[in-house]
This record gives sequence, structure tokens and C-alpha cells, in this order.
Amino acid sequence: MAMKVTVIGLGYLGATHAVAMAEMGHEVIGIEADERKLAALQAGKLPFYEPGLDEALTRVIASGRITFKAGHDEDSRDAQVHFLCVGTPQVTGSYAADTSYLFSAVDALAPYLSPSSVVAGKSTVPVGTAKTLTERLSAKAGFDAKLVWNPEFLREGTALEDSLRPDRIVIGVPNNDLHSEQVMRSVYEPITNGDTGSAKGQTPFLVMDVPTSELVKVAANSFLATKISFINAMAEISEASGADAVALAEAIGMDARIGSQFLRNGIGFGGGCLPKDIRAFMARAQELGVGQAVDFLADVDAVNLRRRQRVVDLAKRELGELNNKRILVLGAAFKPDSDDLRDSPALSVATKLAQAGAHVVIHDPMALHGVRASYPQLDPVDDVFEAAKGVDLVVLGTEWKFYRELDAAKLAGLVSNKTVIDGRNALPYHAWQAAGWKVIALGRNLESA
Ligand code: UGA
Repeated sequence: MAMKVTVIGLGYLGATHAVAMAEMGHEVIGIEADERKLAALQAGKLPFYEPGLDEALTRVIASGRITFKAGHDEDSRDAQVHFLCVGTPQVTGSYAADTSYLFSAVDALAPYLSPSSVVAGKSTVPVGTAKTLTERLSAKAGFDAKLVWNPEFLREGTALEDSLRPDRIVIGVPNNDLHSEQVMRSVYEPITNGDTGSAKGQTPFLVMDVPTSELVKVAANSFLATKISFINAMAEISEASGADAVALAEAIGMDARIGSQFLRNGIGFGGGCLPKDIRAFMARAQELGVGQAVDFLADVDAVNLRRRQRVVDLAKRELGELNNKRILVLGAAFKPDSDDLRDSPALSVATKLAQAGAHVVIHDPMALHGVRASYPQLDPVDDVFEAAKGVDLVVLGTEWKFYRELDAAKLAGLVSNKTVIDGRNALPYHAWQAAGWKVIALGRNLESA
């Protein structure tokens, strides 16, 4: 049954969720305070790059099932669900998450909330936030507001697919609030019914208490971050001992208890989620008096950051002092199929190289507009072959398919020194070696292989 919903906050998470809800047949009101983002969406354009989402946006706008507004109006009153999708960034100068956008969002919603409507929080939050939000919303609305927690697990690059065909749906419901549980079951029925292409009746719908649902998200992201840092720690050991971390990952990943995903070693994890989520988790655990329980996340963070520095050290080992050296960094986005530069390992490596004195030329198939806007110390070039002319070193920072398929021989004819550092273990190194390149890959010793 089609329902009316609002989606509050239209960043990566909210915009994708709003489009996915409309694709499911619901009537969606998207609320976004940022004028630039709002204007883009109203014009049918995504304010960021996400494969497949732009076509879906065009489709749902044409269907008339989605509208975008700067704030609530009378139209919000009869929405059955209000999804909270605003950001919870890291507080400057602290590890904690800034939840102020959530509180502003419920304050703005309160005058338009009806007692039977359900508010569903999707933002990633420190455990305990939902309880405080519910108290605030109830006080402002003048009745007991119904607030559930509904964490989102979508990945950038596959966001729409993850939203329409998720591994599981998690709902944290307070005190056996059956009404809210039922409303949430209805809103996700197109997924559980198989209408979105998911196998009918096969998507687990997990109902639990609210704190557990808040924790599920941070625990999942912390586990993923830990897995990446584990293999990166093994890469450090491999580099020191002559072992090969890629072969190691393949071998341990074949144990079904370990699994092969998220075992790619390289310059580590970045983006708007994993780095800030593990830090916010440490901050919240401290507040709860159990900081020790997640002390290991400090090491997860440290291993991760060391891998970025490792590339700079390797560059110095190869070139000596970096002053007056020209280095091409392939990739700026934090992962392929995204133009998100937030805490991007590739960009971090590029700025560190520039800080060490190198002239850093940077290329990315999608993200150069953001580099141009905010990184004057880097030299963005749109054409990769143009960018490669006369460089002393090439560094792969983001494993776009475009780079994996790059013509290594053509590139070899343009650079002044054929050395490449593969920061993502993604290049077909035999082909590069055959084209005359010295390939240095993190966690491996290809010279002696
Ligand atoms: C992550 C989670 O994977 C999602 O489940 C979650 O919903 C999302 O955060 C969120 O909290 O919103 P995302 O940030 O889009 O998704 O990206 P990931 O695919 O998790 O990759 C994160 C980083 O880890 C990237 O920089 C990637 O290059 C790196 N990575 C990933 C590795 O270095 N090695 C790997 O094996 C896998």
C-alpha cells in the first residue's frame, strides 16, 4: 500500500532513501535546508555522483511521487512516516559525533507531527541518542511522539541497489510499540514482498530494542574498519618479512568464518562514515564509562592512517627528496564510483606528497570539481595522458575501473620515470611490468616475485 512519507536531509543517505521510497511507490516529500542541494534536486539533478541514482531520480520526478522543499508545511502533517537522514559529522577538535542537526530536525518537525505518525531515525548516532531525541520531540509536540530507529547500511557506489535490495532491515522499537512496528513493516513491504527485485519473503526484518538498533550500525562499521586495518597490519608485517599480503588475504578469506570481503590491503578506509564512526564510538564508550571496550579502535585508526604515510615514505625511497619532483596521483575520491572526497585516502596521500614539496598532478574520472574547489596545492588535470607527461612517479589512490584498464604502454611513453606505487593493489601488474614499469604494491614484494 502506497504511503506518504517525508525524508529530512537529502545528502548521500537521504537523497538515495527518498528516491528509493518513491521507486517503491510511496509519495515522498524531501526536505533539504541547503539551498544548493535543494535547487539541484528540484531541477532533477543529483548534487553528487552515484551510479544509477540520477536515472531513478528522473523517473520518480516524472511519476509525480516526489517533491523537494526547504522545510515542512501543512503537507507534512498527514505523512505516516518521517525519516531523519541528516548528517552526524565529527565535531571539530573531538572524536564525538555532532548530533545537533538531528535535534534541529526534530524541532522543525514537531509543529507538523501528528500523534499517529512515526518518526524513523536513519542517521548514524551514538547509542542513546534516540531516547534523548524522543524526549525532546515529545516535549515540543505536546504528546508522546513515536520514534523508532532504522539504521541504513547502504554503500556509496551501490547506494540504490543497497536500498532497494538490502541484506536486512533493522528497526529499533521502544516498549513494544506495535503501532510503529506495523507502520514500518508497511513502509518496507515493497522490499519484503519482492516488488523491488529482492527475493520475496527473504529479506530479514529484524525488530529489536532501540539501543541495540543504534549499536548495530556502529558495530557493523567498526567491524568493517577493523577488518580492513587487520589486513593492512598484515601488509606491514608482509613488507617487513618478504611475505605477500594479497596472497595471504586470499588464503585466509577462503575460510568461510573469515570471508574474503573487506580484506583488500592498501591505503586504507576513508569516506564520510567508517573513520568518523569508529571515533564517535570511542567517544561514546568513554562517556558510558566503558572506553576500554573499544580501545582497539584507536589502533584500527592508527594502522589506517599509517598506510597513507607509507606511500609518502615509499615515494621518498624511490625519488629522494620530493622537492621539484612531479608526481601523478590517480584518483581523488575515497572509493571508486563516487565523487565523495570526505576523508579520502587518495586525497590525503596527494596533499601529504604536496606538503613534502612535490608538484602533485591529480586525476579522477568524477571528483576533480571538488579538488578544484578546495585543494589549491594540487594540480588537477582532466585528461590522464596529459596529466602523466613528464612525471617522476605515478601513485594509484582510488581503484576506478578506468585506471585498472589504463594503457600502461601509452602511459610509459609519457612519463619521465616509469615507477608506479599501487596503493590499492588493483593494477594488472604483469601488464605494467611488461610495459617497462617498476611496480611497487602495498603489502607485496613484486620485485622478487
Ligand atoms: C560504509 C559501509 O560499508 C556501509 O555499510 C555503511 O552504510 C556506510 O559506510 C555508512 O555508514 O553510511 P561506504 O563508506 O560507502 O560504506 O564505503 P565502503 O565500501 O565501506 O568503503 C569504505 C572505505 O574502505 C573506502 O575508502 C574503501 O576504499 C576502503 N576499503 C574497503 C579498503 O581499503 N579495503 C577493503 O577491502 C574494502
